[in-house]
Amino acid sequence: MQPKRDVGGSAKKQALRSGGEPASRIHRASSVPDRRAPGGPEALTGELAQILLSADQIQARVAELGAAVRRDYDGLCPLLVGVLKGSVVFLADLLRRIDIPVEVDFVAAESYGSSAQSSGTIRVRLEPAIDVADRHVLVVEDIVDTGLTLSKLLDRLRSHKPASLRVCALLDKPTRRKVDLQSDYVGFEIADEFVVGYGLDYAEKYRNLPFVAILKREVYEQHSP
Ligand code: IMP
Ligand code: MG
Repeated sequence: MQPKRDVGGSAKKQALRSGGEPASRIHRASSVPDRRAPGGPEALTGELAQILLSADQIQARVAELGAAVRRDYDGLCPLLVGVLKGSVVFLADLLRRIDIPVEVDFVAAESYGSSAQSSGTIRVRLEPAIDVADRHVLVVEDIVDTGLTLSKLLDRLRSHKPASLRVCALLDKPTRRKVDLQSDYVGFEIADEFVVGYGLDYAEKYRNLPFVAILKREVYEQHSP
């Protein structure tokens, strides 16, 4: 019997084994950091203490938020401004639950480095590309913690004279607030725990989890200054 021929397959397998395209087609930068880590789902969930919000719970609440936004903004073509990077997953789901015309843009602001504590210094790295003047702007944020990031962003956006300016946050930690700031739409109020998943990261990891989980304290405490 003839062995089965794996036409084209062996090159693919070889490419997978070597972690990408065949070596001959890769243009290597000399200083690419090596991000390889132990593989498998355990590598993603091993540092989680507990799932706080399941994927189903989140989806149900996002549908409710979308319906509320749709009701309030009908005929206004709101401009949804996502705060990078944490809001991208939430924004992508929320958008599809708002069945009226909307536009989308992004801003970037950071108060966190790799640690779980706010540095208190907010960097605004990106202004919205779409002119917000006279627009009904809805800022979409992953989580409001101290509120410092959002209040700085809102000040910046307000200076461009939008017709209205509101906030939709997936998560809110009201006990941590350092400035007087209330979101107009909130998915879930949560206790003072550091959470990851559904867009939220710790040191850039965990954004791809479909649920929100509490990170084990020892993970971020050992890296805190
Ligand atoms: P704030 O300026 O203290 O309100 O921080 C807001 C930003 O910090 C959020 O947009 C998140 O990016 C990040 N952040 C705050 N709390 C958490 C958390 O529990 N997990 C992940 N990121 C968080
Ligand atoms: Mg954020």
